Amino acid sequence: MIKRLKEDIQAVREHDPAARNNLEIFLTYPGLHALWAHRISHFLYTHHFPLLGKMHAQFWRFLTGVEIHPNAQIGRRVFIDHGMGVVIGETSIVEADVVLFHGVTLGGTGKEKGKRHPTVKKGAMISANAQILGPIVIGEYAKVGASAVVLSDVPAYGTAVGIPAKVVKIAGKKMEEKEHD
Ligand SMILES: CC(C)(COP(=O)(O)OP(=O)(O)OC[C@H]1O[C@@H](n2cnc3c(N)ncnc32)[C@H](O)[C@@H]1OP(=O)(O)O)[C@@H](O)C(=O)NCCC(=O)NCCS
Repeated sequence: MIKRLKEDIQAVREHDPAARNNLEIFLTYPGLHALWAHRISHFLYTHHFPLLGKMHAQFWRFLTGVEIHPNAQIGRRVFIDHGMGVVIGETSIVEADVVLFHGVTLGGTGKEKGKRHPTVKKGAMISANAQILGPIVIGEYAKVGASAVVLSDVPAYGTAVGIPAKVVKIAGKKMEEKEHD
C-alpha cells in the first residue's frame, strides 16, 4: 500500500511542474485524494457493500469535486490534475499512467446499455473540459485536446481535437485535411 502511495505521488511529480515536494502533494492534491478514496469505494462496492461504496464516493466527491463511480476501474499512477468537475462513469476503464485534467467527463451518450462509458488506454492524456462519450477507446498515449467532444475511437499516439473531435495527428505526423474530413 505504501508502495502504491509513493508511486501515486511520483506520478504527480512527473506530470506537474508546480509540484514542489511530497508532503505538499500528499496534503494538497484533490485528484490524488479522489483516487485514494476511490480505491476504498471500489472495494466496498465490489465486495457486497454497494450502498456504502456509493455513499463513500459521494462524500469524497463533496470534498474533492471529483465524481468517480465506485464501479469504475482505475489503473495505477493515474493523475487527475486540479480535479474539479471530473466525472468518471460506472463502466469506464482508465488504464495506468493516464492523465486527466479538470472538467473531463468519461460519460455515456444515453444510447447504450451495459458497457456504455469510455476506455482510456495506458498513458493517454485527456485535456481540460474534454467530454469523452460512449463505449469508445482512447488509444495508448493518445492526446485529446482541451474542450474536445470525442464520440469515436482515437488511435494509439493520436491527437484528437474539436467538436466533434477529429484525429489531427498520429505519432507526431499531421493528418492531411482530406484524411480527417
Ligand atoms: C491537444 C494538445 C494536448 C496538443 O497536442 P499535440 O499532439 O501536441 O498537438 P498540436 O499542438 O501539434 O496541435 C495539432 C493541431 O490541433 C490544434 N489544436 C490543438 N489543441 C486544440 C484544441 N484544444 N482545440 C482545437 N484545436 C486544437 C492545433 O492548433 C494544431 O492545428 P494545426 O495543425 O492546424 O496547426 C493541446 O493543444 C491541448 O489541448 N492541451 C491542453 C492541456 C490542458 O488541458 N491543460 C490544462 C492545464 S491547467
